[in-house]
Amino acid sequence: MRTQVAIIGAGPAGMLLAHLLRRADVDAVVLETRSQEYVASRIRAGILEQSSVDLLTSAGLGDRLRAEGFPHRGIYLQWPGERHHLDFVDLIGRSVWVYGQTEVQKDLVNANTASVVYEVSDVQVHNVDSSAPYVTYLDAEGRPGRIDASAIAGCDGSFGPSRAVVPASVATTWERTYPYSWLGILADVAPSTDELIYAWHPHGFALHSMRSPSVSRLYLQVPNGTSAGDWSDQRIWDELATRLGHGQDGWKLTPGPVTDKSVLPMRSFVQTPMRYGRLFLAGDAAHIVPPTGAKGLNLAIADVALLAPALTALLRNNDPALADRYGDDASRRVWRCTHFSWWMTTMLHIGDDPFDAQLQLSQLRWVTGSEAGAAGLAENYAGLPIGF
Ligand code: FAD
Ligand code: PHB
Repeated sequence: MRTQVAIIGAGPAGMLLAHLLRRADVDAVVLETRSQEYVASRIRAGILEQSSVDLLTSAGLGDRLRAEGFPHRGIYLQWPGERHHLDFVDLIGRSVWVYGQTEVQKDLVNANTASVVYEVSDVQVHNVDSSAPYVTYLDAEGRPGRIDASAIAGCDGSFGPSRAVVPASVATTWERTYPYSWLGILADVAPSTDELIYAWHPHGFALHSMRSPSVSRLYLQVPNGTSAGDWSDQRIWDELATRLGHGQDGWKLTPGPVTDKSVLPMRSFVQTPMRYGRLFLAGDAAHIVPPTGAKGLNLAIADVALLAPALTALLRNNDPALADRYGDDASRRVWRCTHFSWWMTTMLHIGDDPFDAQLQLSQLRWVTGSEAGAAGLAENYAGLPIGF
């Protein structure tokens, strides 16, 4: 099979790239190891930055998002005895939307613009340092396949093979693991808050997020190695109530039936360059952030917003300028979001050093008490413009 761009991975990065390329009359084929149902049902991110919403809207993917998503003006930051609202719209004139990654994925599949081969295995990338790269794979029945392309997009997430194609002599990686994880639940209960609550608490961080007026998403900081089975639903709700301040100034956390429970490790990881020869990396294939800043999905969308026009110019007009700049342009935002995610994470999670706890509280008081501090958080959380 021959196409212009072979895309590895049908997550949000790969599917959005295929969609944008199709709109620009560039052919692409997407290879995905999992089934369509599996990819569609993975519960992951929930917050879209304004620039992600604008990009999806301009790509014709904004109708359901604007009808069923929820614009949020800001977030609450709290610690025992105090809760503060940061109003991003007042602070910086931009905001965020609550719209689950599962919904973004559904919209991309329903757009029917990507040609996807699901349930492939043994995907291998060849000859990216030539102008005739190709990908080999086995299809769902185990038959060998080959896609010849002019460019290959590695959109295969944190465990895919693409990033390892960049030779070790060329690639640089940076990594930080954190000594804690998140235990996340999805619950069939109306959110107990109008906007997300990020809570510092001596027992550990807690987050109250949501998916809809009847579905809540909540997280607890837990030690690494925790198994979801160690936590009964009752224990989770009790701990959420404590950390989120049930009873504080009359606020109540309403528990409900838990429909999903999982543990999520936390990691920062960056690999550069994001382009090697005819291979372009986008999304989690090139970088991973801890979820505290809600940046993972948005960063994947921002990469693709740069990569689609770069590949279009390269393949349709034979103009390599944007493709040559892609790695540097994308990496600037990657490092900004890597810093912001690390900063939010280390400001809100409890370690074992009481000195750190005092620094965290001091930082939280400054961020919520100073307009400059609050605006800095707001600018990063609501997202800098694409191309920043
Ligand atoms: P992915 O969504 O990982 O997509 C990559 C795709 O490539 C997958 O479909 C995978 O099956 C496929 N693939 C892998 N290997 C191969 C191969 N060899 N061949 C073909 N296909 C392959 N971010 C937040 O902002 N908030 C959150 O709450 C949050 N929760 C998360 C929970 C989990 C468990 C994980 C893993 C991530 C979470 N993230 C969260 C991060 C966010 O979901 C990701 O940043 C986002 O999915 C990145 O999109 P992507 O398309 O780059 O990668
Ligand atoms: C979510 O709703 O899953 C979510 C929201 C904000 C975050 C992380 C996850 O920072």
